[in-house]
Amino acid sequence: MCGIVGYIGREDAIDVLIKGLEKLEYRGYDSAGVSFIDEGKIRIEKTKGRINDLKNKVNGHDYKSKIGLGHTRWATHGKPSNENSHPHCDCSGKISLVHNGIIENYKELREKLLKNGHVFNSETDTEVIGHLVEEYFEGDLLEAIKKAGKELKGSFALAVMEEQNPDKIICHRKDSPLVIGIGKDENIIASDIPAILAHTKDVLILDDGDIAVVSKSEVIIFDENGHKVDKDVLKIEWDVKEAEKGGYEHFMLKEIHEQPQVLKDTLRGRLNEQENLVELDELSLTTEEIASFDKIYMVACGTAYHAGLVGKTIFESLVKCPVEVDIASEYRYREPLITKNTLVIVISQSGETADTLAALRQSKKWGAKVIAITNVVGSTVSREADEVLYTWAGPEIAVASTKAYLTQLLALAMLGIYFARTIKSAPQKRLEELSSYLVKMPELLERVYDQEEPLKEIANEIAKWDSTFFIGRALDWAVAEEGALKLKEISYIQAEAYAAGELKHGTLALIVEGIPVITLVTQPHVYEKTISNLQEVKARGAKCFALAFEDDEKIYQEADIVMTIPRVDPLLTPILSVVPLQLISYYAAVARGSDVDKPRNLAKSVTVE
Ligand code: AGP
Repeated sequence: MCGIVGYIGREDAIDVLIKGLEKLEYRGYDSAGVSFIDEGKIRIEKTKGRINDLKNKVNGHDYKSKIGLGHTRWATHGKPSNENSHPHCDCSGKISLVHNGIIENYKELREKLLKNGHVFNSETDTEVIGHLVEEYFEGDLLEAIKKAGKELKGSFALAVMEEQNPDKIICHRKDSPLVIGIGKDENIIASDIPAILAHTKDVLILDDGDIAVVSKSEVIIFDENGHKVDKDVLKIEWDVKEAEKGGYEHFMLKEIHEQPQVLKDTLRGRLNEQENLVELDELSLTTEEIASFDKIYMVACGTAYHAGLVGKTIFESLVKCPVEVDIASEYRYREPLITKNTLVIVISQSGETADTLAALRQSKKWGAKVIAITNVVGSTVSREADEVLYTWAGPEIAVASTKAYLTQLLALAMLGIYFARTIKSAPQKRLEELSSYLVKMPELLERVYDQEEPLKEIANEIAKWDSTFFIGRALDWAVAEEGALKLKEISYIQAEAYAAGELKHGTLALIVEGIPVITLVTQPHVYEKTISNLQEVKARGAKCFALAFEDDEKIYQEADIVMTIPRVDPLLTPILSVVPLQLISYYAAVARGSDVDKPRNLAKSVTVE
């Protein structure tokens, strides 16, 4: 998730672009750049770092331009660097573009273009687009972009300009957001509304496949079939702060609602839908290496550690290899039994968490192979691990991790399926079944949001209490741990998660009349056992909330209030079952008036021990 801006009009384009990028910095902030036409020439200023660094780079130049493109980056392909930052160009430097999205077939296109003599200056997937447009360019930029667009697989929001045609910018979108702000003698293109509000409240939203030719006084739009189309101009009522949150009250709620999209993005280019199987080309592990692992450690902190708890069951079930899940701050000071046949999977959204990093370094010293699952390209964990599997959740602004956790669960499921497929440790049919479920997850997740209102009521009830219990068995217990942490860290309610079968060994003493107990009941092989644990707390007066499958009729006789998820394979239920718990935590925190995005005493990335 990056932020792109394009401007053509009467104002100083560089100033407008940089102000627009500042409003999109929540979309990515590891490098930034602008390109503009000055004295008939395309000029580019770009740098690794924040937009402030770009400002310092541009200031002091006496550029004069009324047309330009801008970009703030969240690296996916190619680490944050000056070369990899946008805008990118074709070989001649006369065609410049900015891009948000992921080009899945960039490797094949790059090979073909290299054979045709093109010279590449970056490691990015984006740069292939500039050279592809160049391949088709015979003076008509629109035609060249149309043809290039047909060859691109993946997601893209593009803005392109060409030196000989300084009176227009052409933009094109598929699976990435793109809006056009309609001004007076000026028009501004952007990934999102915050970037245009300083200029206008009149917006055109492009649809998938649309191509727009934007000049300072006109916007002409063609749909994916090349037909000219008219779009309704929407009037935006939001202020900039609201717009940055996409109209949501907090980044956390916005990020909870971004989960179907980030699941799609994290699956992108990793699922061979014809064969219904996961393909992780980015890993260079050989079949022999994967087969040689006789012990796996999953090491992380906080929410990422909870993802590991789910990963353990997936890997033991599919890869048939013993897995130990460890809290990094404990693991690094223990002497785990590591050999050269040990695999350590470290999980970290930020890729900078001190304890996880130390655990990584220690594991390598002890001779283990290390795979990192992380959300930040170029982070220290990604640079020091032997292999990296990136989650494409985009920047996660709220301290409480939601969408990053969900993409970690997906990454662990993909890695488990990929390993099992490689060493044939599970039946092909089972792996295809699980892979086809992964494709459906984004759409199935949409159904969970339909319950947002009743979940808000549950949250308001829980918000009246200073303690709450989450119970479950097997993978439900792992998700209960995450549910409890979410509630604790943003609503400050003392929430505990327990293996449901463990309650009668002590904790049951804490159950008093009316206390909220959330029971997760999505694991068929321990369904009856979990129901009897629910009955145990109910008998002691607890207010019983249950999370079960939509088609589960029995649960309504047992629990006071039921929340549901669509029925999916038991190994994959955590990807759905955690979302109602995220929403309950969010609304309970709102009901208790806490600073949801920046809860007390916490930091987004804990870089100290
Ligand atoms: C989760 O909501 C918290 N922000 C925290 O527990 C977090 O998961 C933990 O600090 C690990 O962070 P990481 O994934 O960036 O390594």
